Amino acid sequence: MKLEARVTDPTRQRSACLVVGVFEKRRLSAAAAALDQAMGGRLTRLLKRGDLEGKPGQTLLLPEADGTGAERILLVGCGRERDFNARRFRQALEAAVRTLDASGARDAVIYLTDLEVEDRDMAWRMRQAARHARAAVYRFTAMKSEADEPARPLKKLTFNVPSQRDLKRAAAGLAEGTAVADGMDLARDLGNLPGNVCTPSYLAARARKLAAADSRLRCTVLGRKEMEKLGMGALLAVARGSRQPPKFIVLEYRGLPRGTQGARAKPLVLVGKGITFDSGGISIKPAQAMDEMKFDMCGAASVLGTFLAVSRLKPAVNLVGLIPTCENLPDGAANKPGDIITSMAGKTIEVLNTDAEGRLILCDALAYAERYQPRAIVDIATLTGACVIALGKHASGLLGNDQALVDQLLAAGEAADDRAWQLPLWEEYQEQLKSNFADMANIGGREAGTITAACFLARFVEKHKWAHLDIAGTAWESGNSKGATGRPVPLLTRFVLERAGHK
Ligand code: BES
Ligand code: MN
Ligand code: ZN
Repeated sequence: MKLEARVTDPTRQRSACLVVGVFEKRRLSAAAAALDQAMGGRLTRLLKRGDLEGKPGQTLLLPEADGTGAERILLVGCGRERDFNARRFRQALEAAVRTLDASGARDAVIYLTDLEVEDRDMAWRMRQAARHARAAVYRFTAMKSEADEPARPLKKLTFNVPSQRDLKRAAAGLAEGTAVADGMDLARDLGNLPGNVCTPSYLAARARKLAAADSRLRCTVLGRKEMEKLGMGALLAVARGSRQPPKFIVLEYRGLPRGTQGARAKPLVLVGKGITFDSGGISIKPAQAMDEMKFDMCGAASVLGTFLAVSRLKPAVNLVGLIPTCENLPDGAANKPGDIITSMAGKTIEVLNTDAEGRLILCDALAYAERYQPRAIVDIATLTGACVIALGKHASGLLGNDQALVDQLLAAGEAADDRAWQLPLWEEYQEQLKSNFADMANIGGREAGTITAACFLARFVEKHKWAHLDIAGTAWESGNSKGATGRPVPLLTRFVLERAGHK
C-alpha cells in the first residue's frame, strides 16, 4: 500500500473515497464542512437525522458523493472536539482504514491529518497516520494455504496536508512513520511465526538478510562453539534441553563516519530476548495458552524491527543489536532446578526455576555488550508474567540504573504513542535473589517479580548506563485478536532517532 502526503482540496479532489472527521454534537471538521457545502447540506441532514453521532471510532460510508470529485465519502466519528488526543486520533485512523479496506475503494484521501491534536505537531500526525494505517491493514497469512486477502485491496492512501508550508515536515513525518511500520510488520511477522519455523537459526538468517541489504549494517552470528569459548555458560545452560542449536546474533549499524572520535562514536546497544519457544523447561508451564510462548522472542523481533527502521532512516548514530536466542525445553540433558551455572561475567547462578530462563540468556548478552564500551544499553524482553499483572497490555515495564536514560525512554514512548511505565529498582529488592549455594539465585520469590528480574540483570551492567523494558504485556495480544503487536519498535526507533539528534 502506497502512502503519500499532499495538499488537496476536498471539493475538487478526484478519489475513490474522501475520509473526513465528524465530532460529537454534529460538529463537522473543516473538510467535512466544505464537502457538506458542495453537496447542498447533505452531511448536515444526515447528522440531524441521527445517522452518525460522532462517537470515537464510529464510521458511516456514503456510497456516492454527487457534487464532489469523489465516488464515496467516509465519515469518521472523532468524539468530542476538545478531547481529541493521541488515542482518539489513533482510533479514528484505524476505524477509517479498516472500513476502507473492507469497502471496494482502491485509494482514498484522508483528511483526519488536518485535525489539531492536543500538543502534537504536523510531523507527529503524519508519523502516526502512516503507522496506524499500515497496522490496520496488516495480515499474517504466511502459514495459510489459501490467503484470505481482500479481493480489491487498498492500493494508495493520501494524507492531506492543510498547507503548503507544512509539506516538508509532513513528508519527513510520513517517511518516519512508514519506516516504523516496516519495522513493526517485520517484528509482527517474526512473532507470529510458529516456533517450529521461527527457530534461532531462522532469526539468524533474517538478521543476515537485513544486513545484506544495507552497507552500513554488519551481521555476525556466533554458534555454540564460539559461545563456549566466550564462556556463555548461562545461555548455553538454557539451550541444553533443545535440539535446535542456540545462536548469538550481533548486528552493527554504523551511522557515523569511520573517523568519528570520542564519546559520540560509542554505540547504543539494544539487547533482545530471543527465546523462540518457552515451555518452562523442567519447571514446565501449565498447558493453558502455552502456545503463546512462541512470542517469547518478541524482544529479539523488536530489535530486528528497529534495525530495519534505522536502516531506512539512516540516523547519525552507531547502534549495536545483540540477540541471544535458543529454545527452553525439557529433556534429559536440560538444566535442572538446583543446578549451578557460571555466566560469562564469571558470576555463578543457582537455577531454582528453569522457567526464569530469559534473564539467563540476557545476562550473557549484557556481559558481551561490555566490549563496545556502550553509551547506553537497553534490553527488551518478554521477561515476567508479573509485568502483565502489574501493567496489563497498555504499558511496557521500564527499569534502569540511570534516571536520565529512563526519562529518555519514557519520553520516546510518550512521543511514539507506545508507552512505558517506570518501576523502582531499589537496592532493597536485591536481597530476594540471595542463594545459599551460588552468587545469586535466578528467581526472587512471588513478590515484585518484574523488579527482582530486573535486579538480576542489573548485576551484569553495573558499569554502564542501562535500562530494561519488560514487554510481556505489550508484545502480543491474546484471545480473538491473538497476534504480535510490533511493540516496542515505535518507542525504540524514536529513542534512537532522538539520540541521533532528530527532532
Ligand atoms: N517468558 C516468560 C514470561 C511471560 C509469561 C511472559 C507469561 C508473558 C506471559 C518468562 O520466561 C517466565 O516464564 N517467567 C517466569 C519467571 C518466574 C519463574 C520467576 C514467570 O513470569 O512466571
Ligand atoms: Mn520462562
Ligand atoms: Zn521466557
